[in-house]
Amino acid sequence: MSAPRKLFVKTYGCQMNVYDSERMTEVLGSEGYVATDRPEDADMILLNTCHIREKAAEKVYSELGRLRALKDINPDLKIGVAGCVAQAEGEEIMRRSSLVDLVVGPQSYHRLPAMERAVRSGAKALDTDFPEDDKFDTLKARTKMKRAPSAFLTVQEGCDKFCAFCVVPYTRGSEVSRPADRVLREAEELVDAGVAEITLLGQNVNAYHGHDKGLAGLIWDLAKIDGLKRIRFTTSHPNDMDDALIAAHGECEKLMPYLHLPVQSGSDRILKAMNRKHTAESYLNLVDRIRAARPDLMLSSDFIVGFPGETEEDFEATMDLIRTVEFGQAYSFKYSTRPGTPAAEKPQLPEDVMADRLARLQTLLTQQQHKVQEDMVGRTVGVLFEKPGRIAGQMIGKSDYLHAVYADAPNTVLGRVLPVRIIAAGPNSLGGVLVG
Ligand code: SAH
Ligand code: SF4
Ligand code: F3S
Repeated sequence: MSAPRKLFVKTYGCQMNVYDSERMTEVLGSEGYVATDRPEDADMILLNTCHIREKAAEKVYSELGRLRALKDINPDLKIGVAGCVAQAEGEEIMRRSSLVDLVVGPQSYHRLPAMERAVRSGAKALDTDFPEDDKFDTLKARTKMKRAPSAFLTVQEGCDKFCAFCVVPYTRGSEVSRPADRVLREAEELVDAGVAEITLLGQNVNAYHGHDKGLAGLIWDLAKIDGLKRIRFTTSHPNDMDDALIAAHGECEKLMPYLHLPVQSGSDRILKAMNRKHTAESYLNLVDRIRAARPDLMLSSDFIVGFPGETEEDFEATMDLIRTVEFGQAYSFKYSTRPGTPAAEKPQLPEDVMADRLARLQTLLTQQQHKVQEDMVGRTVGVLFEKPGRIAGQMIGKSDYLHAVYADAPNTVLGRVLPVRIIAAGPNSLGGVLVG
């Protein structure tokens, strides 16, 4: 019998790509591939790409440039591009880079086995359909390997919101929810394989409608799975936070007290131009309602600075919103023009104005993040231990609030949620001691 072929997957972008990379690895596993983390050993390399900002998309072409050397050494090496750049510019990738054998979009990777056979026989393969057949129907049950304690599970894909800056509705297509029974079955498979924490994923996860009681209904059903200790979900749109989901934050013990709720801007004028369909005030009211249900909830958000037309006054409104909410974590970006989106038609702000605003915004967000971390010192929180630290005897886990936590502990803590008293706060992690 010949040695198994080796697959190297490099993942860019959001958690949904991380999940898709796992599923692509599993589907090619059924074609005899085993995963490797050494590209130089690989028979096939897949780049699972992101198109959200210009820099993210450019990475594909620079990575392809680097891979040329590997293909020179091993002419049988097959190179594929998957993900959102594949979806957005599949044919152009094929034209621009003779290295690429295969291009597969996020909705068609269940067809990888046939595509793989085609490229093995020397053909090129491109599939960026939004096919009628559901990829999740075609993909088999999750493979029964031992898994890490924390796993992603995609329950909803695509977006119908069409924010004026965003490529996702074009690269991922319209909103689709997976039926609750399939999600529950997959969750059980993951828990049987050692998973203690599941993060439900969707570009608009709280618009999930695969359960007659929405995302809250799905969360309550998942909470009944015995070995499952923690549930999280991301990413949410403010307009889809319904009462049942807010209530679940107060009532469902397994639902963790952390919510990523992107707001993008604090200026109503800019929010309108962004087509976000909410105001700063409606966002603040929502935050109040969620905090009333779960007072210790940690909030995280996304911000874009320098959207076309943003004035200093608009920017200050964003700073005010941040001061009012106090975020524990945040991601912020300079506006990046994306081809084909409505905002791309508008005049751009100068680069130095965007850079200056981003720096001021990040200074404020970092201050808030540090304050929240320091406030953790002295508290006892649940920690799911995930892996050994670099120092012998030290283990690393995630707190209920998603902070990385280091603690001295034996190997036996791996995969368990245990109480830890926080004794120190660093810039990006907390230190603690096991309690009891
Ligand atoms: N579905 C999620 C976000 C997906 S993209 C949501 O609705 O919140 C993740 C983040 O990237 C966005 O929240 C936004 O802050 C940022 N982003 C998206 N398009 C961008 C662009 N053209 N320029 C800069 N940042 C962008
Ligand atoms: Fe993009 Fe807006 Fe949809 Fe989020 S809600 S994926 S930012 S279009
Ligand atoms: Fe990027 Fe696509 Fe995710 S554009 S952020 S990989 S949905």
